[in-house]
Amino acid sequence: MARWAERLAGIFPWPGRSTVKRPTGPESSNPMHPIEEIRVRLDADMQKLETLIADGPGAGPSEGDKALPKQFEDLKVKYTGKKGEISGLLRSMGTLAPEARPEFGKLVNELRDYADARFSALQAKIQEVEIAGSLSGSSLDATLPGYRVPAGSLHPMTQVREEIISFFQGLGFEMALAPEVDNDWYNFEALNIPPDHPSRDMHDTFYVDDKVVLRTHTSNVQVHYMETHRDQPIRIIAPGFVYRVDNDATHSPMFQQVECLVVDKDISFANLKGTLFLWAKHMFGTETTMRFRPSYFPFTEPSAEMDVSCYFCKGSGTLDGAGGAPGQPCRTCKTTGWIEIGGCGSVDPNVFGKVGWDPEKFSGFAFGFGIDRITMLKYGIPDISHLTRNDNRFLKQF
Ligand code: PHE
Repeated sequence: MARWAERLAGIFPWPGRSTVKRPTGPESSNPMHPIEEIRVRLDADMQKLETLIADGPGAGPSEGDKALPKQFEDLKVKYTGKKGEISGLLRSMGTLAPEARPEFGKLVNELRDYADARFSALQAKIQEVEIAGSLSGSSLDATLPGYRVPAGSLHPMTQVREEIISFFQGLGFEMALAPEVDNDWYNFEALNIPPDHPSRDMHDTFYVDDKVVLRTHTSNVQVHYMETHRDQPIRIIAPGFVYRVDNDATHSPMFQQVECLVVDKDISFANLKGTLFLWAKHMFGTETTMRFRPSYFPFTEPSAEMDVSCYFCKGSGTLDGAGGAPGQPCRTCKTTGWIEIGGCGSVDPNVFGKVGWDPEKFSGFAFGFGIDRITMLKYGIPDISHLTRNDNRFLKQF
């Protein structure tokens, strides 16, 4: 202020001298120079608006808040508008002595810069008030951090199922499906299991009525597919749900299997072994070995159970080499070093006969694995019910 006063002193006398008295200070007896006077008034007007703003936002969208932009615009026009007070100063410059004009012009420009800076600062504040007012009127607080939506993942069984399917699709297999509620014919009879056959006992079937069952295995897809694709080479992979009256730590009444059927001329058990060997190495790692144990299924001859070397102990039965203490028994394979994967065999000629194919011309192989079982073995899951309990603490791990 003092420097202003000094500089203004140089351009007195002023023709239309202001009558406003300086409010304080040593020169308070002198009337103010019009430039200074405008600045003092501008400061006072600004101050009024700022007080309005300071009262505004917390109190919500008051009438005062709403009028603010208008008051601001009026004030801006009053001082910096074309016909405003600051321009008026410039227009009156002609009444000054020529030598006083340059300094006067400079001072007026400084005043204009000062006013512009204050107006834009005030405008920013008013915008803040407007935003705060519009927000406090609704329950939405746009400044709150958003909710993070946790990314999910596929169920471990879905992952294993998709891995199996994509592996076989890579070998040129086609995906096939069959009904989960099916006629006795597809689930049993056409698969060489007549009504009084003792192997029906193994299946613990849920009967819908005398002739309709919940399928006990995915092998019904073999019958459906051979009936509808007669006398042509078949390579299918068929995942799906199956049902048995069974419920304990390693059995659930509803579980998933994946069935495979290959039929063509000259298909042998060696083709079955080669295919499964490739699959086991893909699924459980390249060091995996496998073995076939003779078994019995009415729809395959010969039949076998396929075992793979234990994924966890690498077939040794103990966890020494797999991060365990010396001699620590492997629980996954119950120290046998082998894991049972499922049943398989060459298609029984009787099955070809039932579906109207010529067993002299065609041969084939099939296998059926439990996806739940493969998942449990692959991840060392001790209880099958984890797979259906929907506990997020479990599911999050996959
Ligand atoms: N369907 C048999 C089961 O559920 C498995 C199997 C499928 C066996 C295909 C041989 C061939 O146990």
